[in-house]
Amino acid sequence: MTHPDSDSPGLRQTILSLAEPIVATEAGPVLLCLQKVQAHYGYVPEGSVSVIAEVCNLTRADVHGVLSYYSDLRKTPPPRVPVRLCAAEACQAVGGRALAKAWRQACESDPELAEDTGIDEPVFCLGNCALGPAALVNDELLGCADVDRLKAAVVIARSKVAL
Ligand code: FES
Repeated sequence: MTHPDSDSPGLRQTILSLAEPIVATEAGPVLLCLQKVQAHYGYVPEGSVSVIAEVCNLTRADVHGVLSYYSDLRKTPPPRVPVRLCAAEACQAVGGRALAKAWRQACESDPELAEDTGIDEPVFCLGNCALGPAALVNDELLGCADVDRLKAAVVIARSKVAL
């Protein structure tokens, strides 16, 4: 995954090539453009907002507003193996909050684990409520999550990322 300079001509060209086909065919294309850019880079690089605004004929504030509203849109590169714990009600009812606390403690005692996973970015309902607490480990769904199962899933995800 590349992390481009925000002002590089290469970034501008890439964003144009990603956004222009969407703008040509979709009404209200800002979110789709941002999602496409994130799918390409893993996040939305800083210089993308002005290019998307230009292509969509909107202000940078309009695009920045969409980028800021959706928590799934990232403004910084993701960790190597992102771990996201469900923080919605059904998972909280079966120990989600305690799991989040235990996971944070596990990461605090293992800096490599913390760096690789970003500790936790809460997510609100993964549609796996019956098997809560639920989590995503590098976008793989994990049910009945506990610290040991999360660590095991991170080990597997690390090996896939390393390939
Ligand atoms: S509330 Fe956690 S998966 Fe639905």
